[in-house]
Amino acid sequence: MNLKTILLLVAVLGAQAAWAETPVYLDESRPIEERIDDAISRMTLKEKIALLHAQSKFSAPGVPSLGIPELWTDDGPMGVRPEVLWDEWDQAGWTNDSCTAFPSLTCLAATWNPEMATLYGKSIGEEARYRNKSVLLGPGVNIYRTPLCGRNFEYFGEDPYLASAMAADYVRGVQSNGVAVCVKHFALNNNEANRYTTNSIASDRALYEIYLPAFKAAAVDAGAWSLMGGYNLVGGQHATYNQRLVNEILKGEWNWDGVVISDWGAVHDTRQAVEGGLDMEFGTGTDGLTGSGSSYDKYWLANKYYDGVRNGEFSEEQLNDKVRRVLRLTMRTAMNRNRPWGSINSPEHHQACRRIGEEGVVLLRNVDQTLPLTKDKVRKIAVIGENAIKRMTVGGGSSSLKALYEIYPLEGLQSRLGDDFELVYERGYVGDTCTHYNNVWTKQDLTDPRTPQQLTADAVKAASDADLVIFFGGLNKADHQDAEGTDRLSLDLPYGQNELIETLAEVNPNIVVVNISGTGVAMPWLNKVKAVLQAWYLGNETGNTLAGIIAGDVNPSGKLPYTYYATLDQCGAHKLGEYPGTPRHDPVEGDIIDMPYNEDIFVGYRFIDKNKLKPTFPFGYGLSYTTFDYGKATIDRKKGSADDVFTVSIPVTNIGDRQGSEVVQLYISDLKSSLPRPVKELKGFSKVNLAPGETQTVTFEIGRDALSFFDDKAHEWVVEPGKFEALVGASSADIRSRVSFEVQ
Ligand code: BGC
Repeated sequence: MNLKTILLLVAVLGAQAAWAETPVYLDESRPIEERIDDAISRMTLKEKIALLHAQSKFSAPGVPSLGIPELWTDDGPMGVRPEVLWDEWDQAGWTNDSCTAFPSLTCLAATWNPEMATLYGKSIGEEARYRNKSVLLGPGVNIYRTPLCGRNFEYFGEDPYLASAMAADYVRGVQSNGVAVCVKHFALNNNEANRYTTNSIASDRALYEIYLPAFKAAAVDAGAWSLMGGYNLVGGQHATYNQRLVNEILKGEWNWDGVVISDWGAVHDTRQAVEGGLDMEFGTGTDGLTGSGSSYDKYWLANKYYDGVRNGEFSEEQLNDKVRRVLRLTMRTAMNRNRPWGSINSPEHHQACRRIGEEGVVLLRNVDQTLPLTKDKVRKIAVIGENAIKRMTVGGGSSSLKALYEIYPLEGLQSRLGDDFELVYERGYVGDTCTHYNNVWTKQDLTDPRTPQQLTADAVKAASDADLVIFFGGLNKADHQDAEGTDRLSLDLPYGQNELIETLAEVNPNIVVVNISGTGVAMPWLNKVKAVLQAWYLGNETGNTLAGIIAGDVNPSGKLPYTYYATLDQCGAHKLGEYPGTPRHDPVEGDIIDMPYNEDIFVGYRFIDKNKLKPTFPFGYGLSYTTFDYGKATIDRKKGSADDVFTVSIPVTNIGDRQGSEVVQLYISDLKSSLPRPVKELKGFSKVNLAPGETQTVTFEIGRDALSFFDDKAHEWVVEPGKFEALVGASSADIRSRVSFEVQ
């Protein structure tokens, strides 16, 4: 080999080595922060700005010159939303974007079973991954402050401890697919009426003890990769870029490293957004690209931000922090080559839908053992009510879905009970006949030529001819029901259902009411009916799930994740006259609605306990087809721990003759404290499955978190020495055993 050849060979090999060298930002074996530094060093200012705002309704562009992929988001939180057009809310018309519709998140909360949250998150995450989404816009973890809030069905109920536990496992499940959650809507976004102008005013105690824990559990404990700010204002500043919420708490105290995404159209100002900690802007008024140039360049975090950085108004360091966060999110998701492939509409997902529904349905009343149905007592059943035949996976706002299929309650009953019982159907009332919600088509024509009088008369006739009536009513996903953007107008059932139920009860007292809703309703007819099921929105498998429970294949084990108020004034926000707020003109924000949270930490059962009220059903309540007996609780100081850590144990026995699951609940009561505290607070729960005659001992650990309160003056969590009580029970109003203990 002569010198020339050798030199040529060296040059070729060298060039090959250079080609083969992976740039640091693409090298997955390198630490993520090093990769981000490298990517940032290669980006132009224009590219950095482009990364921070949408390029279409649901996507952001990534960095094409570096091969950093687009970031695709989609709703969330109960199924993966069908595709919309690039710039518009209209459906894209794909034929392969049907999904599994999972039960509502209130139903998930009602399972009181974190394993169901993991299953839910894992399954929906697989669907999002299959559809190539990097960010699933959910879960919603806002606290159920008023039963009227239109989005309660998208949330986990009224209690911060329960919501935290369930939300955290949902997050872990989703993200195990390399798909980010986007926890929403941060924070104090607890009503839909006036959602763009409500200015929530809460004390630090209420914020830290009630409204933030589920966000913290999702963001910090479970490590959520993104979070969405609410439309509302908090303390006079927009939540999406709120100094206190985002900079001081989320990114400061919690040291959270994820991306803050605006709600769609929640940004109104460049400076406030940049300085208030917002990282990505979506949904700002781009219904079709009109005018000159691209509307996306007109976003608050687009050209205006670019100019601001160029002329020194905003620092590049601050910009780089936002870019870093978005790159981190992209590397965790779209750039993670090891993430699984996902799957959609698999039998496993449909089964998961059914299992979660079966564990979440709550049996509220069951006199004379009316349920489950038995052939010796019943032969002919009149099924009555619009919700027996109405498509409910469509509607409700951004969570509206194109489910692959949906089994209606009537269909479920027909296939499960049709051979053993004679079933007749009557609608009874016409509620909502809308065919499109959020541009998704129901494919149902629910118009009915009959007058209301005729509908009632037909239902009464069917009821009087039957041995048993099963009434499927409740709410639906139309405006002012369970729907985004509007709140309910009263606690009552709509469309004359109260009157109809009473009329039916007069001709046939054997009535089972199945209430399909995501929130509590008034039940003035309760004592006139035999059984009541709280049935939520149960997704694809609605009919099969309910038929299984009614037939007794499944023993109900759900418990209420919120108080079922008898009247609105049992709820603090209404009793204190705060809801729906007071209009005011603000010199900066214009017309806003002040919404004080003066009930403070006394939300839900905390308000009920404090004022010794009797709701229709208490928080944590739910029956079973079997009966559980609670023994005596005992408490021990945990050995070997320097702090005050205790364990509480209680034996629970199934004394009935059916297998069943019981949610055993632990509440803590601080008997004397320097600041007012709730009578008791949920600090533990455990769902146990017991065969007839079986006993299991349930054990809870009580540590600092279970004993402390937030001292807003000192701005810290405090445990005060003194006497406490551990209360173990079957609901917040059914304490079966209590033990006291002393904290030193
Ligand atoms: C909703 C969000 C949703 C977003 C995108 C907004 O109107 O408040 O929850 O994720 O739209 O559809």
